[in-house]
Amino acid sequence: MKDSPPPPPANGAAGPATIVIFGATGDLAYRKLAPALYRLYRAGRLGEGFRLIGFARGEWDDERFRARLRKGITEFLPAEDFDPAAWEGFARTVCYVHGAYDGGDGGYERLKARLRHDHGRPVNALFYLATPPVAYEPVIQALAGHGLAKSDGGWRRIIVEKPFGVDLASAQELNRVVLEAFAEDQVFRIDHYLGKETVQNILMFRFANAIFEPLWNQKFVDHVQITAAETIGAEDRAGYYDTAGALRDMVQNHLLQLLTLTAMEPPAAFDADAVRDEKAKVLRSLRPLRGVRGEEVVFGQYTEGESGGQPARGYLQEHGVRPGSRTETFVALRVYVDNWRWAGTPFFLRTGKRLAKAVTEVAIAFKQMPHRLFTAAQQQCLAPNSLRLRIQPEEGMSLCFEVKQPGLGVQLQPVDMDFRYRQITPASAPTAYETLLLDALRGDGTLFTRRDEAEYAWRVLAPVLALRDQADEPPMPYAAGSWGPEAAEKLLGPERREWRCP
Ligand code: BG6
Repeated sequence: MKDSPPPPPANGAAGPATIVIFGATGDLAYRKLAPALYRLYRAGRLGEGFRLIGFARGEWDDERFRARLRKGITEFLPAEDFDPAAWEGFARTVCYVHGAYDGGDGGYERLKARLRHDHGRPVNALFYLATPPVAYEPVIQALAGHGLAKSDGGWRRIIVEKPFGVDLASAQELNRVVLEAFAEDQVFRIDHYLGKETVQNILMFRFANAIFEPLWNQKFVDHVQITAAETIGAEDRAGYYDTAGALRDMVQNHLLQLLTLTAMEPPAAFDADAVRDEKAKVLRSLRPLRGVRGEEVVFGQYTEGESGGQPARGYLQEHGVRPGSRTETFVALRVYVDNWRWAGTPFFLRTGKRLAKAVTEVAIAFKQMPHRLFTAAQQQCLAPNSLRLRIQPEEGMSLCFEVKQPGLGVQLQPVDMDFRYRQITPASAPTAYETLLLDALRGDGTLFTRRDEAEYAWRVLAPVLALRDQADEPPMPYAAGSWGPEAAEKLLGPERREWRCP
């Protein structure tokens, strides 16, 4: 006789569950999911009764799949993280099922058989779509068609990887398909930025400290800069990247998520619905873009230059990029949140590949004082106060303010008050995927994107996407290793604002 699965343990670990990774032989499973799951297992976070089933088209057996996971784990985790005994235990939880994603060859029957074995007890199952996006719909429909989307006493959940559609229409369609099979609270749309410790900390920083929130509005903030700069190029992902570009790859998801956390109102509670209600409101309040180059948006593409002291080739020379491609590898945007708190305050977003430095941060630039006491010479370098929330690397925050230069006479000088996470956290804080996998296993959707958020984000970008897709003008060139095209400076307007060089 069936009874319910045992309850989750009280120590914050997940309860008994099986994760089924679709696209298990691919890159994401190899680089991110296997190392994250192994670390969770080793830390005792996966609980008794955890199992991992890889599902993909290749006719592999369990051993070959385990060997692949082991390779990913040893390649992408520091050597000291690998413990042979923990690996043996983890490997015993792993098996593999081959099958076509649309279920044409009995793969889902084999999957069901593997899922069933828990002493006749209903099984909790988390499905992870780590396939190329074309396979999302076939997998979802096959799961539903085989009765796997509905609870049989154990829960069923699904994680959908990015990209969640390529525009508003495709995101709506994907939402329709997934919500035909699953209820919204079973669906976990993942954006790995939300799993980063320092991204979550934006909320804690804002809502657990009384001193910053009173300043967090258009009265005191001149503008906000959100930067996600990378030094890597398109490299071995050029095939995908050339069809996506920076706007779809980074802005629609990661940068807009950073913006929502920075701009949102305090939620009534720290729970999935309250937090996501407030984030969705920000997306809904974004002033519709008109798609004006130079004023609202600047697209760039890297040309030859230097990266990390080495010569770097231009985007068009990367293997897998279409000849003459107009795909942007850099994008900068000026957006406004049209609500009471932020009326008239510009938010500048910028992301790019092959930039001068790998750094992600949110910088709040405060307004100047209403009246200046100091002479032009004394305040020569009087910089407005700024607060920087550093997401990576060197996670932390710093507040920049003016002090008197020690010495005779009056001369001002900006200084930083710095906090670095490494002062308080062990080197191996959980990775974004560890956090998010564990949250999904526990059923906590706070750090996942809700249906409306995904759609609003596409909706607001629609005019800029249309401009990009027309590709009537090539993106502005910038040398690899620089901070992007010069035209991005103009986006900041005539107010003597400057992009930070973080
Ligand atoms: C991914 C993008 O979502 O995020 C990549 O597809 C990008 O192009 C990556 O490199 C950046 O993530 P992180 O965690 O390295 O900042």
